[in-house]
Amino acid sequence: MKVLVIGPGGREHAIVRSLLADPNVSAVHAAPGNAGISQLVPVHAIDASDPDAVAALAARLAVDLVVVGPEAPLAAGVSDAVRAAGIPVFGPSKAAAQLEASKAFAKEVMAEAGVPTAMARVASNADEAADALDTFGAPYVVKDDGLAAGKGVVVTKDRDEALAHAQTCFDAGGTVVIEEFLDGPEVSVFVLCDGVNTVALSPAQDFKRIFDNDEGPNTGGMGAYTPLEWVPEGLVQEVIDRVAQPTIAQMAHRGTPFVGVLFVGLALTSRGTRVIEFNVRFGDPETQAVLARLKTPLGGLLLAAAKGELDTAEPLRWSPDTAVAVVVAAENYPGTPRTGDRIRGLKKAEALQDVHVIHAGTGLDDDGKVISAGGRVLAVVALGSDLVEARERAYDGVELVQLDGGQFRTDIGRKAARGEIKVTAPGTAHATKAKA
Ligand code: AMP
Ligand code: GLY
Repeated sequence: MKVLVIGPGGREHAIVRSLLADPNVSAVHAAPGNAGISQLVPVHAIDASDPDAVAALAARLAVDLVVVGPEAPLAAGVSDAVRAAGIPVFGPSKAAAQLEASKAFAKEVMAEAGVPTAMARVASNADEAADALDTFGAPYVVKDDGLAAGKGVVVTKDRDEALAHAQTCFDAGGTVVIEEFLDGPEVSVFVLCDGVNTVALSPAQDFKRIFDNDEGPNTGGMGAYTPLEWVPEGLVQEVIDRVAQPTIAQMAHRGTPFVGVLFVGLALTSRGTRVIEFNVRFGDPETQAVLARLKTPLGGLLLAAAKGELDTAEPLRWSPDTAVAVVVAAENYPGTPRTGDRIRGLKKAEALQDVHVIHAGTGLDDDGKVISAGGRVLAVVALGSDLVEARERAYDGVELVQLDGGQFRTDIGRKAARGEIKVTAPGTAHATKAKA
């Protein structure tokens, strides 16, 4: 089978790498790709968010499957154009991608499907925002309604800061969703969907803030690890039964069936599992860690989802190892990142045992040398027999990568490795508080 992967980032590099390991995949192409992807497969310089351009490329290459990576092409209708050309595509339609493109729409579908999530209100002016903030109280959660690459959310105890973020969104012509604050650790679960059937991948944890100890502004994600030893048994089944199946049933009922990956962002709160958000694509950098452990050939799985045949998929097979991905970001990310710097030490890092590098924002200069070209530049991914070993290997790799002004978090997976993550079982929070 021949596959075309659409997108420029780390998630796409990880997908390409896994596809190349699938014995049934004979060729992979990518568009537009990045420096790392171009070292593996032919890349095509097209606009990934141009539906006609992507469909034309897929037809010209006569591929058997198109995998659309990022949210922007999905929201632009790239999957619809490819599907209309008669080519199987892994990625939701423009209509189904609204589950990520509009947080207000996602809340509406969750309400219809009875999916547990934070209480929320949509606000379109300062008065409505102030009213909603005071209803839920601090800490305040204010979300830009549209696509914002993971950076449109402000969580703060400062009411003025919350109002200021809302005002920025209003000034840009948008609306905001204001929510109750969810306590408890966060988990990312990727659920493959074929419109009717679902298959969940192994849960991962992402690190959203730019600095250690979850300080500083939100980013697209600074690192990830998987599996999660500390999640309650039955979590994945709960996500399937209470979140993924009801959601895709509701999407089908609306006439906009969901085909692709439903990325369920969860908080394990003292009142139970709650959905923080949906995304309609693989998470980045969780995918780098999750796919490093997946033994089931990826191409066959994604094609089965694209063709509505996930019910025939074999149970997934996983490496017993733990995977850790540590992102190296450019100076000044998540603001306006500095780009164009040489990246050195990649080969040395990849020579380490069970370590590989996944490129995100990279490009090639005129001499063919790898340079930074985006905010999150790359991720060093390592496997180890446990989280402690995987972290050691990943950070040994990070130490070898040289990028002027480069920044990374030093605490990816650290709390979990120390056994410091606690999930408060629903119903016990009150009793614990009363005792204390
Ligand atoms: P989102 O783009 O909706 O995933 O939000 C980005 C990040 O903001 C999440 O990963 C959480 O860390 C945080 N966040 C979002 N919504 C809430 C909430 N209701 N309560 C607490 N934290 C939240
Ligand atoms: N890592 C979170 C995301 O991809 O949005």
